[in-house]
Amino acid sequence: MIIAVDGPAAAGKGTLARALAQHYNYHFLDTGALYRMVGLGVVSAGGDPRDAAAALKAAESLRPDKVNDADLRSEAVGEAASIVAVNPEVRSALLGFQRAFARKEPGAVLDGRDIGTVVCPDAEAKIFVTASAEVRARRRLAEIAERSAAPAFDVVLAEIKARDARDSSRAHAPLIPASDAYVLDSSDLSREEALAKAIAYVETRRPR
Ligand code: DC
Repeated sequence: MIIAVDGPAAAGKGTLARALAQHYNYHFLDTGALYRMVGLGVVSAGGDPRDAAAALKAAESLRPDKVNDADLRSEAVGEAASIVAVNPEVRSALLGFQRAFARKEPGAVLDGRDIGTVVCPDAEAKIFVTASAEVRARRRLAEIAERSAAPAFDVVLAEIKARDARDSSRAHAPLIPASDAYVLDSSDLSREEALAKAIAYVETRRPR
């Protein structure tokens, strides 16, 4: 069984997807980390993420087993990831790995932007997690504050809105709920409440 979890930046999809994978004992893949690895690869080699050839080279030489999570979490790397993700060649270079991962037994949970629409259009369960930009900015701010000095709320809100705009407006695999996705607005939900709703939905989609 494949569970696709998509949604905008800081909507809580990573937390939800990990919790679902744990609940069902499924494999878990954070596909944003793949794009972040490509973005980081370009930037750390002194390149520009807008440079299509550099981005493609980084995507083709990607070693998903070498992911060092801490290096990938910064806002700068998220921004670079969002820029390289516009490139259709980069996206197709990452497709095979994601699809192979999704076929793992007994099941897999993948989180990203285009899992339910492009990577796994046949996923049995598709959840689109969203929340208002203000709620997401507040959550992101709390997350940053745990690691370092927190920027101003308005700065984080503007970054979230810019990321939404780039991810949603790109021509290839834009951020959009699949027509058969369960849309879960987590604005007024705790993590536990969001997980309970997601599990209730997945239960309706499980083969019996
Ligand atoms: O989920 P995240 O913040 O780690 O994702 C970083 C960027 O990677 C996101 O802004 C767009 C891109 N991305 C994508 O285009 N498709 C995915 N399936 C996952 C992430």
